[in-house]
Amino acid sequence: MYGRESDKEKLILRRSSRAIVSKKKARVPAEGLQWRTIRQLQRTHFACTAWYFHMPKKKVSAKMRKKLDQAAIKVMKNAHAPYSNFHVGAAILLTNGKVFSGCNVENASYGMSNCAERTAIFSAVAQLGPKIEIQAVAVANDHGVACSPCGACRQVIYEFGPDATIFFQGSAGPKQAHITELLPEGFRLQ
Ligand code: THU
Repeated sequence: MYGRESDKEKLILRRSSRAIVSKKKARVPAEGLQWRTIRQLQRTHFACTAWYFHMPKKKVSAKMRKKLDQAAIKVMKNAHAPYSNFHVGAAILLTNGKVFSGCNVENASYGMSNCAERTAIFSAVAQLGPKIEIQAVAVANDHGVACSPCGACRQVIYEFGPDATIFFQGSAGPKQAHITELLPEGFRLQ
C-alpha cells in the first residue's frame, strides 16, 4: 500500500525513478532484482498513490447517500428550466452533518443561468457563512440521463470541498467519484 513500502522497496523505487528521468539504466539493486520486478513494483506504487489521493478521508453511509439522493430529487421539482427543459436538483452534505439543496435556475439571457449544484452551495454559504466544508454532493435530473457536475460547478465544489465525494448519474447507472477525479488540479489562490 502507498507509503508502506519496505526500506528495500523504497530504495528500488528511488533508484529506478531516477533512471527513468535520466533515461539511463540505473544500477540494478544488489539484491539481483529484475527490471520486470521493478516495473511491477512501480506500477503498484503509482496505482496506490492515485487510489490514495482519490480516497475520501470520511465515507458517506448508504443511509446518508439515500437521504441526499431524495433531497436532490425533491428540490429538482422547483427548477426553473423553461429553456432547456432539463430539471436538475442537487443536495450537499456538510462535514457538520447539515444538508442543503438547490435546483437549476435559468434565465432568458442564457448565460445568467445557475446550476443546481451552485445554487445548493451558495445557499449553504448564505445560511452558514464561508467556513462550510462540503463532504458530499448528490445530483439528480428529470431525464434519467448521465449528468455529472459541469466544469464551473466542479471548481466551486472544490473551493468548499477539496475532499468531497460526488454522487451522480453515469452513462451506465449511478456513479460516485472524488472531486479530484472530476477536477484534477483544481484552482486555489495561493
Ligand atoms: N445543469 C445543472 O444544473 N447541473 C448539472 O450538473 C448539469 C447541468 C443545468 C444547467 C442548465 O440549466 C441545464 O441543466 C441544461 O444544461
